[in-house]
Amino acid sequence: MTKHSWMMAGAAVMALTYGTAQADAPTAADIARAEAHAVATVKAMNADEKTVLTHGIMPLPFGPNSAKVPADAIPGAGYVPGVARLGVPALKESDASLGVAYVNGLRGDGATALPSGLAQAATWNPAILEAGGAMIGSEARAKGFNVLLAGGVNLTRDPRNGRTFEYLSEDPLLSGTLVGAAIRGIQSNGIISTIKHFALNGQETGRKFVDTRISEAAARESDLLAFEIGIEQGQPLSVMCSYNVINGTHGCDHDMLLNTVLKHDWHWKGFVMSDWGAVPSLDTAIHGLDQQSGAQLDPKVFFGADLAAKAKADPKWAARLNDMNKRVLTAIYAAGIDKNDAKPGGAIDFAAHGEVALEAAKQGIVLLKNTGNLLPLAKTAKHIAVIGGYAVAGVLSGGGSSQVDGVGGPKVAIPLGGDGPWASFFSQHYQGVAPLAGIRANAKDANVTYRDGSIIAEAVDQAKKADVAIVFATKWSTEGKDQGDLTLPNGQDALIAAVVAANPHTIVVLETGNPVAMPWLDKVPAVIEAWYSGARGGDAIASVLFGDTNPSGHLPVTFPASTAQLPRPVLDGYWDLETNFSGDPPSPDAKLSANYDIEGSDVGYRWFARTKQKSLFPFGYGLSYTSFANTGLKVNGLKASFTVKNTGARPGATVAQLYLTARGAEAKQRLVGFARVDLKAGEEKPVSVTIDPRLLADWTKDGWTIKGGQYSFALGEDAEHLGTPVTASIAAAKKKD
Ligand code: BGC
Repeated sequence: MTKHSWMMAGAAVMALTYGTAQADAPTAADIARAEAHAVATVKAMNADEKTVLTHGIMPLPFGPNSAKVPADAIPGAGYVPGVARLGVPALKESDASLGVAYVNGLRGDGATALPSGLAQAATWNPAILEAGGAMIGSEARAKGFNVLLAGGVNLTRDPRNGRTFEYLSEDPLLSGTLVGAAIRGIQSNGIISTIKHFALNGQETGRKFVDTRISEAAARESDLLAFEIGIEQGQPLSVMCSYNVINGTHGCDHDMLLNTVLKHDWHWKGFVMSDWGAVPSLDTAIHGLDQQSGAQLDPKVFFGADLAAKAKADPKWAARLNDMNKRVLTAIYAAGIDKNDAKPGGAIDFAAHGEVALEAAKQGIVLLKNTGNLLPLAKTAKHIAVIGGYAVAGVLSGGGSSQVDGVGGPKVAIPLGGDGPWASFFSQHYQGVAPLAGIRANAKDANVTYRDGSIIAEAVDQAKKADVAIVFATKWSTEGKDQGDLTLPNGQDALIAAVVAANPHTIVVLETGNPVAMPWLDKVPAVIEAWYSGARGGDAIASVLFGDTNPSGHLPVTFPASTAQLPRPVLDGYWDLETNFSGDPPSPDAKLSANYDIEGSDVGYRWFARTKQKSLFPFGYGLSYTSFANTGLKVNGLKASFTVKNTGARPGATVAQLYLTARGAEAKQRLVGFARVDLKAGEEKPVSVTIDPRLLADWTKDGWTIKGGQYSFALGEDAEHLGTPVTASIAAAKKKD
């Protein structure tokens, strides 16, 4: 539990508490104890030992200086040797945003794929994220990994970002709360998790050199707040600094972000590891970087002999080197890796873990449109035409370092060309349970046909013969490459338009990692956003289509009506730069910047509110097969209460959303609380929410600053459909950091 003290007007001190950590995930108190142990170990280290934990390799046959892989390394993202004399174990690192990463099958094993980060966030359910984290962590342990490169929490500043699928949302409260839960789950396995990529890593185009320009106030109130909340709630033992440049300085070289914000202001005790190939110089050590990861991707192993020489010559560097070791050791001891390390060859209960993935997928699927209650489908349907999206094989997944595949690998892999070491990452993978199998299992007596959609006439012919047509439309996203626009690729818009013209009972199931445009929307009666739905996605989609699952997902990002609505209608650099997975500049003098001060801290729905624009589908939006009503909103200081009722005929879950709408006369929209509530038909429940004061505040030269006055709040079905506002008197308050 984390407490925050605010100096309220009149000098009263108020403490706020956040969610309670799972019993076995390390708490702040565990970390403080681990730090004392770490200090003692650093004292016992000799000079050679002090530059062992400070750098690692990528134990894979990759990179310009492909490293020698030690015998005890496991194919994965990283390996840092231990110090056996002092009982310090080696760190064995795997990517794990959505499951234990597949690394192109180099380990010869598979893992349970969770739905994408965006899909999990659409549940608005921290318990789902925590269960998913616990599941991933246990699989990682069983494979011998003790550090997971998880916890991606960069805000969706641009829906075209190639990694949007891996991240969570455009809102700091939602993202921070959910990532904290995922990290608690992972670390409950006695292993280390990162939170990443610190910070403001908002696009993949030119990711190693794009300079994101933003004022400190805007950063503190948005992207940094997501990290701050995530760190408080999840207590990650490591932070991964980002590739990009922030206001002129690389993320891993950023004294202000690493030393001032993270370590000083937030009192965070863990270690900062670099992203892979993100270290420009030795001076990064002085600026707050503790460990150089995958060092063969950097120009040099800076944190080995060079660091040792500096420490020998200069007491300031010697002290810094001790601190670097203390921080890595604090993480190791807090996780308990020194006592109970992960070992490869552990048993994995894939059936049980599949249930975790299934529940996340079910709760994250968003029903976008359902005219005339076309859904749910009757199980007695006679003739269903399923079209497109490789629905015969599996569900789409996102590409890059987070790619997970099940045992036996992907069901379909479509290589997208390129060469060099990263080419194999550019391959679309379809995985898990096929939607077609799920549909057939639900409509046992129906004639269910499948056409791949490549020949429109054939799809139309099938649709005409059927009672209902279900078109699966996919759009692949990957780390390393953004999207130029929001359109569905490969003529899928034309396919959908032709099918719905042939059969008005057409349902579109989207499998996308980003918001997409829907030029056919007014013609198609039912649309589901199923995202990348993971190992059991096909079952989850079928369960929603046939009504065993009442959809309850709500959009964690705004779906714009067009890119013209965005703060940057053209994604910076996209059309001028040839991007590749590594994101290296095409020439040494290449320059790129992205001006985040356009929207400042008004990311996503806040930008739409500020500019009074209507989206295609707003943040927070999601339909159900039942209906809900929120009534009786009262706000008293930082406590809000109201009642949520299921006013329909089916059980279901809703996500109550509380928004700040104005501070005095100033219109200002911010999500300040949310609660996912399960309700039987006709049932009502009281809900109370405690508002984090930082969400009411501005960041000023005095830190968090709340102007006293009348603040307005409203419950929203989503960010654009708000109930009647109520006002509350909020006391002036300040908090330094
Ligand atoms: C990604 C990180 C990842 C690392 C190791 C980098 O390219 O940005 O998210 O953890 O590779 O695979």
